[in-house]
Amino acid sequence: MDKNKKLNIADLSIFKNSAFITKTPQETRVLAKKFASILKSGDIVFLNGNLGSGKTTFSQGITQFFGNTGFARSSSFMLVNEYQAFDSFKLFHIDLYRLKKTSIFDIGIEEYLYSKNISLIEWPQRLSDGENENHWDITIENLINKRKIKIQKKK
Ligand SMILES: Nc1ncnc2c1ncn2[C@@H]1O[C@H](COP(=O)(O)OP(=O)(O)OP(=O)(O)O)[C@@H](O)[C@H]1O
Ligand SMILES: [Mg+2]
Repeated sequence: MDKNKKLNIADLSIFKNSAFITKTPQETRVLAKKFASILKSGDIVFLNGNLGSGKTTFSQGITQFFGNTGFARSSSFMLVNEYQAFDSFKLFHIDLYRLKKTSIFDIGIEEYLYSKNISLIEWPQRLSDGENENHWDITIENLINKRKIKIQKKK
């Protein structure tokens, strides 16, 4: 069930299985910051969507929420970028675009995923075993002059 909602979100519980429209990168960051406020230590966030849809922009809002002042860089040339999440734990921004289909264990990212940290993963469909994980799914659709951002969690 998808509802398009405006950004003035009163009740954060509506994040589970919702869809939002953003018209600018800044609106996407604002939405991501609000979403980040419900993330817990150990959470995994899959960022789905075509090239240029806004996955890194959404990640920037999350890293900013956790106290990082700069913008998260697109991590296309790096497999993993590491940020601090306040003083409590780390935030890993992982970009699998350049990889062929692989498993979490083949590339050794289980240390990031199964920890007290939070992992953000662009191009999670590269993972053969990703669907087994209990993760948030962010799906960004590039529409004319806007983005539709779905936020889902199965469990
Ligand atoms: N509403 C919006 N939300 C996010 N980005 C937007 C929006 N409108 C326009 N943009 C633009 O779309 C681009 C999104 O780029 P971004 O690097 O975040 O995408 P990406 O999904 O991470 O791409 P890639 O698959 O190459 O990693 C930016 O240039 C941004 O300015
Ligand atoms: Mg990106």
